[in-house]
Amino acid sequence: MAHGPLCKVAFLPNGPTAAVRAGTSLLDAARRAGVPVRTRCGGVAGCLMCKVRIEPETAGGLNRPTAPEERKLGPLLDEGMRLSCQARVRGDVALTVPEDPLKAAIRRRLLEQQEEDLW
Ligand code: FES
Repeated sequence: MAHGPLCKVAFLPNGPTAAVRAGTSLLDAARRAGVPVRTRCGGVAGCLMCKVRIEPETAGGLNRPTAPEERKLGPLLDEGMRLSCQARVRGDVALTVPEDPLKAAIRRRLLEQQEEDLW
Protein backbone atom coordinates (compact mmCIF):
# COMPACT_ATOMS: atom_id res chain seq x y z
CA MET A 1 0.00 0.00 0.00
CA ALA A 2 2.32 2.70 -1.24
CA HIS A 3 -0.27 5.45 -1.37
CA GLY A 4 -2.40 5.36 1.76
CA PRO A 5 -4.19 8.49 2.87
CA LEU A 6 -2.15 11.24 4.50
CA CYS A 7 -2.63 11.73 8.23
CA LYS A 8 -1.70 14.81 10.20
CA VAL A 9 0.47 14.37 13.28
CA ALA A 10 0.55 17.54 15.40
CA PHE A 11 3.30 17.93 17.97
CA LEU A 12 2.00 20.04 20.87
CA PRO A 13 2.22 22.61 22.32
CA ASN A 14 3.89 24.49 19.49
CA GLY A 15 5.83 21.96 17.45
CA PRO A 16 5.39 21.20 13.78
CA THR A 17 2.64 19.16 12.15
CA ALA A 18 3.80 16.28 9.98
CA ALA A 19 1.75 14.79 7.15
CA VAL A 20 2.51 11.08 6.91
CA ARG A 21 1.04 8.00 5.29
CA ALA A 22 -1.33 5.84 7.30
CA GLY A 23 0.65 3.06 8.95
CA THR A 24 3.64 5.28 9.80
CA SER A 25 4.81 4.96 13.41
CA LEU A 26 4.75 8.08 15.57
CA LEU A 27 8.49 7.63 16.03
CA ASP A 28 9.03 7.90 12.27
CA ALA A 29 6.61 10.82 12.07
CA ALA A 30 8.59 12.62 14.79
CA ARG A 31 11.86 11.98 12.99
CA ARG A 32 10.43 13.28 9.78
CA ALA A 33 9.19 16.39 11.55
CA GLY A 34 12.56 16.93 13.23
CA VAL A 35 11.11 16.42 16.72
CA PRO A 36 13.57 14.61 19.00
CA VAL A 37 12.20 11.47 20.68
CA ARG A 38 14.61 9.49 22.83
CA THR A 39 15.10 5.83 22.02
CA ARG A 40 17.61 3.22 22.96
CA CYS A 41 16.12 -0.02 21.68
CA GLY A 42 15.74 0.93 18.03
CA GLY A 43 11.95 0.80 18.09
CA VAL A 44 11.16 -2.65 19.43
CA ALA A 45 9.23 -1.72 22.62
CA GLY A 46 12.30 -2.50 24.70
CA CYS A 47 13.48 0.78 26.23
CA LEU A 48 10.22 2.65 26.99
CA MET A 49 12.07 5.93 26.35
CA CYS A 50 9.91 6.82 23.36
CA LYS A 51 6.73 7.38 25.39
CA VAL A 52 4.46 10.18 24.18
CA ARG A 53 1.17 11.56 25.52
CA ILE A 54 -1.76 11.42 23.10
CA GLU A 55 -4.50 14.05 23.21
CA PRO A 56 -7.49 11.93 24.28
CA GLU A 57 -9.85 13.18 21.57
CA THR A 58 -7.37 12.08 18.89
CA ALA A 59 -6.62 8.62 20.32
CA GLY A 60 -8.78 7.04 17.58
CA GLY A 61 -6.23 8.24 15.03
CA LEU A 62 -3.90 5.44 16.13
CA ASN A 63 -3.84 1.64 16.02
CA ARG A 64 -4.91 -0.15 19.17
CA PRO A 65 -2.07 -0.59 21.68
CA THR A 66 0.10 -3.56 20.74
CA ALA A 67 0.60 -6.51 23.10
CA PRO A 68 4.10 -5.30 24.12
CA GLU A 69 2.69 -1.85 24.86
CA GLU A 70 -0.05 -3.32 27.02
CA ARG A 71 2.49 -5.36 28.90
CA LYS A 72 4.99 -2.55 29.38
CA LEU A 73 2.82 0.53 29.82
CA GLY A 74 -0.05 -1.04 31.77
CA PRO A 75 -2.05 1.71 33.49
CA LEU A 76 -0.08 4.43 31.67
CA LEU A 77 -2.12 3.51 28.59
CA ASP A 78 -5.21 4.78 30.40
CA GLU A 79 -3.43 8.08 30.94
CA GLY A 80 -3.00 8.49 27.20
CA MET A 81 0.62 7.34 26.99
CA ARG A 82 1.77 5.29 24.00
CA LEU A 83 5.11 4.00 22.80
CA SER A 84 5.81 6.05 19.70
CA CYS A 85 7.63 3.12 18.09
CA GLN A 86 4.48 0.98 18.41
CA ALA A 87 1.73 3.51 17.75
CA ARG A 88 0.87 3.78 14.06
CA VAL A 89 -1.27 6.50 12.59
CA ARG A 90 -4.51 5.77 10.82
CA GLY A 91 -6.02 9.25 11.16
CA ASP A 92 -5.15 12.68 12.48
CA VAL A 93 -3.52 12.72 15.90
CA ALA A 94 -2.10 15.28 18.34
CA LEU A 95 0.48 14.46 20.97
CA THR A 96 3.07 15.81 23.36
CA VAL A 97 6.60 14.47 23.64
CA PRO A 98 7.50 14.59 27.37
CA GLU A 99 10.52 16.70 28.19
CA ASP A 100 13.79 14.88 28.76
CA PRO A 101 13.86 14.37 32.59
CA LEU A 102 17.44 15.60 32.88
CA LYS A 103 16.70 18.78 30.92
CA ALA A 104 13.58 19.33 32.99
CA ALA A 105 15.62 19.10 36.20
CA ILE A 106 18.17 21.59 34.89
CA ARG A 107 15.46 23.99 33.80
CA ARG A 108 13.81 23.81 37.23
CA ARG A 109 17.11 24.53 38.93
CA LEU A 110 17.78 27.53 36.66
CA LEU A 111 14.34 28.93 37.46
CA GLU A 112 14.98 28.53 41.18
CA GLN A 113 18.27 30.34 40.81
CA GLN A 114 16.61 33.21 38.98
CA GLU A 115 14.12 33.51 41.80
CA GLU A 116 16.90 33.51 44.37
CA ASP A 117 18.72 36.23 42.44
CA LEU A 118 15.69 38.47 42.76
CA TRP A 119 16.24 38.70 46.50
S1 FES B 1 11.98 3.01 20.94
FE1 FES B 1 12.35 1.77 22.64
S2 FES B 1 10.40 1.35 23.38
FE2 FES B 1 10.01 2.53 21.65
